[in-house]
Amino acid sequence: MSFSLEQYRLDGKVAVVTGAGGRGNSIGRAYALGLAGAGAAVVVADLNEEGAAAVAAEIQDAGGSAVGVGVDIANPDSVWAMAKAAKAAFGGVDILVNNAGLMAELKSEQAVDIELEEWNRIMAVNVTGALNCAQALVPLMRERGGGKIVNQVSGGAFPAISIYGISKLALVGLTTTLARQLGRENINVNAIAPGNTTSDAGKILTPDDSPFIKFLEASVAMRVRGAPDELVGTLLLLCSDAGAWITGQVMHVDGGWVLRP
Ligand SMILES: NC(=O)c1ccc[n+]([C@@H]2O[C@H](COP(=O)([O-])OP(=O)(O)OC[C@H]3O[C@@H](n4cnc5c(N)ncnc54)[C@H](O)[C@@H]3O)[C@@H](O)[C@H]2O)c1
Repeated sequence: MSFSLEQYRLDGKVAVVTGAGGRGNSIGRAYALGLAGAGAAVVVADLNEEGAAAVAAEIQDAGGSAVGVGVDIANPDSVWAMAKAAKAAFGGVDILVNNAGLMAELKSEQAVDIELEEWNRIMAVNVTGALNCAQALVPLMRERGGGKIVNQVSGGAFPAISIYGISKLALVGLTTTLARQLGRENINVNAIAPGNTTSDAGKILTPDDSPFIKFLEASVAMRVRGAPDELVGTLLLLCSDAGAWITGQVMHVDGGWVLRP
């Protein structure tokens, strides 16, 4: 079959996007709107239930299908309830975008000093949260003969030089492991590693005049910062038939911050 742009369409597919309802201008919101624009029904999931409902309403107002669901991805019971809600709303799940994570709220603590409780809290959301979602949603993908998982990592994991970076590098490990283990079941598992993105959280973490932005300006090939919408094209590639032969990869969308051979 020759290539057609139709391969990017997601009509009839159901996507769950975690962390899509928190702050106003978030990457998760851009992902949810992008998937809905390509034709998918979207489960907008977030710890912030009200925010999730608001993004779902935004999709519905634009003519798409969506529901908002409150979830704590660190709590397996809550994640299984989200899976049940997704099945009840749309009959199954084809796509999981593990986007929820702790970032702007984290202190830049030294590894030798961090309290174990704080370390465990970060890993429970940024790493185990994605595993919990995969465990609850892969059975639904199997029922439909395959699926797509996209994990949101970060350029900050290449190399990991912070606790946040460690958590995202562990999520890369989960990505390649799931890719190897689920490939024969027609489930693609990839990661997106954004650079410094101008979500509300990104702007809180690194204001324009922050030393980190100055540091990036000295080394990034193109623009240092990108908007959430600039990540959506890569997401659609990884969630659609257009990317059917891609698995186990980290796609760096960062203006050339992390340069890899
Ligand atoms: N903004 C950037 O510069 C940047 C760069 C690289 C990677 N990322 C990653 O992209 C993702 C989204 O980032 P963002 O900038 O939109 O930040 P954000 O803070 O707006 O989004 C994170 C979302 O996760 C939700 N969340 C947190 N804990 C949760 C839990 N236990 N259960 C369910 N939801 C939970 C929050 O409510 C929030 O909506 C994060 O994983 C972040 O680490 C962001």
